[in-house]
Amino acid sequence: MTFAHATDVLNRHNQGHVLRFWERLDAAAREALLAQVATLDFESIARMRGMLAAGGGAAAAGAPEPAGVVTLNATARGAAIARGEAELRAGRVGVLLVAGGQGSRLGYDGPKGAYVIGPVSGATLFYYHARKVLALARRHGVRVPLYIMTSDTNDAATRAHFEQHGFFGLPREDVFFFMQGMWPALDAEGRIILDAPGHIFLSPDGHGGTLSALAASGGLADMERRGLTTIFYFQVDNPLVEVADPAFIGLHLLEHADISIKVCAKREPQEGLGVVVMRDGRCEMVEYSELTDEQKNRRAPDGELVFKYGSVAIHVFSLPFLKQEAIRPLPLHLAHKKIPFCADDGTVVKPEANTGYKFEKFIFDVLPDAKRVVTLAFDRADEFSPVKNATGPDSPETCRRDLQAKWARWLSAAGQPALPLEIDPAYALDAEELREKSKREKLKTEMLKC
Ligand code: UD1
Repeated sequence: MTFAHATDVLNRHNQGHVLRFWERLDAAAREALLAQVATLDFESIARMRGMLAAGGGAAAAGAPEPAGVVTLNATARGAAIARGEAELRAGRVGVLLVAGGQGSRLGYDGPKGAYVIGPVSGATLFYYHARKVLALARRHGVRVPLYIMTSDTNDAATRAHFEQHGFFGLPREDVFFFMQGMWPALDAEGRIILDAPGHIFLSPDGHGGTLSALAASGGLADMERRGLTTIFYFQVDNPLVEVADPAFIGLHLLEHADISIKVCAKREPQEGLGVVVMRDGRCEMVEYSELTDEQKNRRAPDGELVFKYGSVAIHVFSLPFLKQEAIRPLPLHLAHKKIPFCADDGTVVKPEANTGYKFEKFIFDVLPDAKRVVTLAFDRADEFSPVKNATGPDSPETCRRDLQAKWARWLSAAGQPALPLEIDPAYALDAEELREKSKREKLKTEMLKC
């Protein structure tokens, strides 16, 4: 992009101020700024400005009611597992991991997936996710492709981490990295914020960016080429996740769902989990920050919370539904933030108060478009203990504790003594596999990492 072209485009969108420090920039800074301008998605920026002008978004219409939740009894679970395993054996399941976020609450600088979580081995979050995919591929004798969404903030470091660890044993042609989009932040007048004289403040466009990024990167085409039909989706921060759990995949297929969602009982009313609701006859997710205190604390006559279940961002999508949604614009969500900005004289101000607006898309905003949604309840002790905060709840400490408690339950079910340990997913993917192995052989301590 040339300076003249950038000037023209920016002026047409009332963003001419982006080039106002041009005269002070050296050649490299000018080139970098033009490259940033070339990535700006003015259609979305127009929607952001409209949202600001309208005072932050339309209020939802009807009152939300909790969505129905399925729990599987032994028979239903058996049928779902059989269906899910058949799908896995047919090689029609792909795994989609969103890892483009910035992990600012954890206070970790690198990609969150490179965070060390293994209590004995020092393995990273990516290690557990990748080894589960490896174990699934081996168990079912098929290729299970892993699609990993990164962002400009961590793409190079994520790829380097996989290179450094030999892709954790996965065939590299089955790991597909793709980058989500980056969006500018706006000030209260809808102007793009510069955080240095020659630099636009940009941040990832939210995990809703998965859909457009999958389409643009060729990820969707790769899924189709491989003959996939069912995509298991999860977040990087939870090493307890049961990747492509056959019961969940099978239920999704038996119910002919477009999207299926795992939920668990919230720890307490204020826990930061989104809630699946029905509103005006359609299904949607209400993010925790968008639920009122009254809604969070509302109880049914039996004393249970009305919005008892929270989503842990573990989903199954049918591929045709993902394709359909990839060409639809998702709604925007706005957050008021402290964003560094460039004053008129070019000095950078780090504000004490919220001065700018960041915008994101959320993947779960596809829900109202789904013809069929299934919401499955599960036991969080087995599947959910995310690393979100540096200390306290949902921290590395609680996550390591929960990982070890899960493995100790497996060992106890296999009649083995509990030890401080780790179990490599590629050695035993679940309690049943460990129990079978313990019947056949002396357990391999190097795989158990005692
Ligand atoms: C998220 C969900 C919440 C759910 C909870 C379960 C949102 C808005 N909320 O909350 O409904 O109950 O997890 O743990 O997602 N990510 C990207 N790109 C982005 C932003 C995020 O890839 O632009 C990825 C992150 O890398 C991470 C995941 O999305 O894997 C979650 O992001 P985060 O912002 O940490 O969401 P939470 O507030 O924890």
